[in-house]
Amino acid sequence: KLTIDVKDIVHPVSPMLYGLMTEEINHSYEGGLYAELISNRTFRGDWAGLQRWEIARHGNAEATLSIDKTTGPSAALNYSAKLVVASATESNVAGLGNPGWWGIGLKAHTEYKGSFYAKSESLSGPLTVKLIGNKSGLTMAETKVDLKGGDWKQYTYTLKTGSIAASAENHIEFTVSQPGTLWLQSVSLMPPTYANRENGNRIDLMEKMAAMKPTFIRLPGGNYLEGDKLQDWYDFKETIGPLVDRPGHQAPWSYWSTDGFGLLEFLEWCEDLKVEPVLAVYAGYSLKGEHVKAGKDLEPYVQAALDEVEYVTGDVSTKWGAERAKDGHPKPFPLHYIEVGNEDWLDHSGSYKERWPQFARALHTKYPQYKLIATEPVKATDKLEEPEVVDDHYYKHTADMLDFTKHYDDAPRTGPKIFVGEWATLAGSPTPNFGAALADSAWMTSMERNSDLIIMSAYAPLLVNVNPQGSQWGTNLIGFDAQTSFGSPSYYAQVMFAEHLGDGVPKSTITEAGPRFYYSATVDSKTSTLHLKFVNASDKEQPLEVELTGLTGLHVAKLTSLHGASYEATNTITEPSIVRPLLSSSQVQGSSWSHTVPALTIQTVDVVLK
Ligand code: AHR
Repeated sequence: KLTIDVKDIVHPVSPMLYGLMTEEINHSYEGGLYAELISNRTFRGDWAGLQRWEIARHGNAEATLSIDKTTGPSAALNYSAKLVVASATESNVAGLGNPGWWGIGLKAHTEYKGSFYAKSESLSGPLTVKLIGNKSGLTMAETKVDLKGGDWKQYTYTLKTGSIAASAENHIEFTVSQPGTLWLQSVSLMPPTYANRENGNRIDLMEKMAAMKPTFIRLPGGNYLEGDKLQDWYDFKETIGPLVDRPGHQAPWSYWSTDGFGLLEFLEWCEDLKVEPVLAVYAGYSLKGEHVKAGKDLEPYVQAALDEVEYVTGDVSTKWGAERAKDGHPKPFPLHYIEVGNEDWLDHSGSYKERWPQFARALHTKYPQYKLIATEPVKATDKLEEPEVVDDHYYKHTADMLDFTKHYDDAPRTGPKIFVGEWATLAGSPTPNFGAALADSAWMTSMERNSDLIIMSAYAPLLVNVNPQGSQWGTNLIGFDAQTSFGSPSYYAQVMFAEHLGDGVPKSTITEAGPRFYYSATVDSKTSTLHLKFVNASDKEQPLEVELTGLTGLHVAKLTSLHGASYEATNTITEPSIVRPLLSSSQVQGSSWSHTVPALTIQTVDVVLK
């Protein structure tokens, strides 16, 4: 029996309980959210920079392709791809081709905007750009760019598809019909983007994120904040300004980041989703175990953190606020939380004890209005060193996650608040199966119940390119390829949980429920709605007598159900809708009613209160 005293609100629900966390992992940005269609556009991947590029040679045309480290369009990109065409004619063209990120997704009647930097010295005249079907060899779109010859220049082009079938099985070619030498750099092709942002994001992935009703994005990582080695730290200054001035950097998840999706793009991503960033600043520790000694050596990193906060929030009269305005965004971004580092408990030298206070004192002094998040519990000698929040991470297998749901019930409420900055049930690959969705949902009921303490949370990782070469992590929330994307069962559970969340937790008790049954109750004071969530992770149905104390009358109930045939049931890129929420509605008579939650089912029940 479940009894809920809807008038007795025990504590408010944290308004920022559900957010997002992603980083450059699983080609989440490059080859994912960042809409750029050309892979390794700056020739900085492996295989001496030519990874994913190849010579396009038709008939008896002859050409060679190499990396030239002596010339490039900018100090940041001071190298390029050198194409030497020994022989080519109108009918036997030569050039270079790119397969995209395991394909280039094309749609009918769509405009694609491209650009590249080229130096062609003696070579001038037309360069042909073609999108070509991999299997059919058919041209999907074509245009010509008039090469002017001479030193580095940026060229732009547009490709428009006609009545083609949508497909990811396409590649792009850039060819010439005469001998000569051509140097290329920063070769780009962008599809239409979310909110028409220039240099923006993939529409389908943004829509999936928007449906999760997030309130913040924790960025830029994760391990991506730190990098494997000290030199690979996330230095925001290298990720802003014109794309040609961004050198890119080695990301820890085994591939290169062009940083085309840099700090400003992160912030605009937040803006487009109408959420605020939870800004993580690098704290002087990198994944392979090196750290910067606290004191003088750490000072430049502390200064970089202060500068970064100013770039995000400063008005145009500040140095970094002015820089942001120059980059095209004069309006400061909202910010409430700054995280110092990532998973510093992994630093076995214990140096966070000294690094944290140096950051905390500087940040709290210059920005007393922002709350600081520590990545492990710290001892503070005074207020300036006290973290307002501590970031806890949990990756657990299904049974362990189901058993973990009481973890915060009796936790002390006297210390810092908790940010569960990364969490996930690890079952299913590349995306979670229904068993994981059940455990994730059970965990979410416990976060809602404890949301006086847990003020924010974010599942991780959020995105995965499902190409076998595209992913580095087992279980990830949303899968995609070059053309399309899908939500895992756990994704749908999270959409349901965020959509049906009140602002207060009423007093409730349950008796005689099965061992794998979990629930949450929150009340929305604005709409007078009781949001119930039921998670039945067992293979037996769960009968319930629900009683609302202090209320009578007719209540309208809306029910959303997510059911899986087994723990293993899942969605895939080719079968994206096996586990999907189903909606129904019923009328609830009086203040108590019987309700049965089927086996292996997650439900939300909205009851309009009278
Ligand atoms: O989410 C994947 C990784 O897990 C993150 O980069 C890191 O913070 C954690 O260890």
